[in-house]
Amino acid sequence: MAASKPFEICFVCLGNICRSPLAEGVFQALIKEKGLENQIIIHSAGTGNWHVGSPPDARMKATARKKGVPLTSRAQQIQPGDIRRFDLILAMDQSNRDILEYMCSPEVAAKKIRLFRSFDPEANGDLDVPDPYYGRDDGFEHVFQIVHRTCPPLLDYVKSQME
Ligand code: 4NP
Repeated sequence: MAASKPFEICFVCLGNICRSPLAEGVFQALIKEKGLENQIIIHSAGTGNWHVGSPPDARMKATARKKGVPLTSRAQQIQPGDIRRFDLILAMDQSNRDILEYMCSPEVAAKKIRLFRSFDPEANGDLDVPDPYYGRDDGFEHVFQIVHRTCPPLLDYVKSQME
């Protein structure tokens, strides 16, 4: 019997060097812990192209490393073909989501694009993961806390979509 195609997820922020690489690393660690690495494939990308080819921001990497999460991605820019290919695209904020929606039909957007923080149990209506790039060092810790608590409920949603 042929194995079913893996479910492919892409986290998308602006530069693909802070928020989306962190979400990729934390979600990857979670699916590894749950033994789902062969069923779920994770990517990340940016809407912008300034950092293409670069590793994650050193401050984001250091914050993640302290929590035992290695970040190993290289920045890439999201392409329209990626939206066709991936099953679920998580926008880290509403401006990222708006750009993604321009890149596909309303039907595809409704089916595949979600705001990452719509799965955050503590969002309280604040649906953006704040961009830490130009802020203080504690902004990276804040982003880590948001991403860390949002990945388990996101995994529950992913599993419901795979059934
Ligand atoms: P990210 O953060 O979207 O979370 O990767 C940023 C990284 C770089 C820039 C902006 C945000 N930038 O303007 O270069």
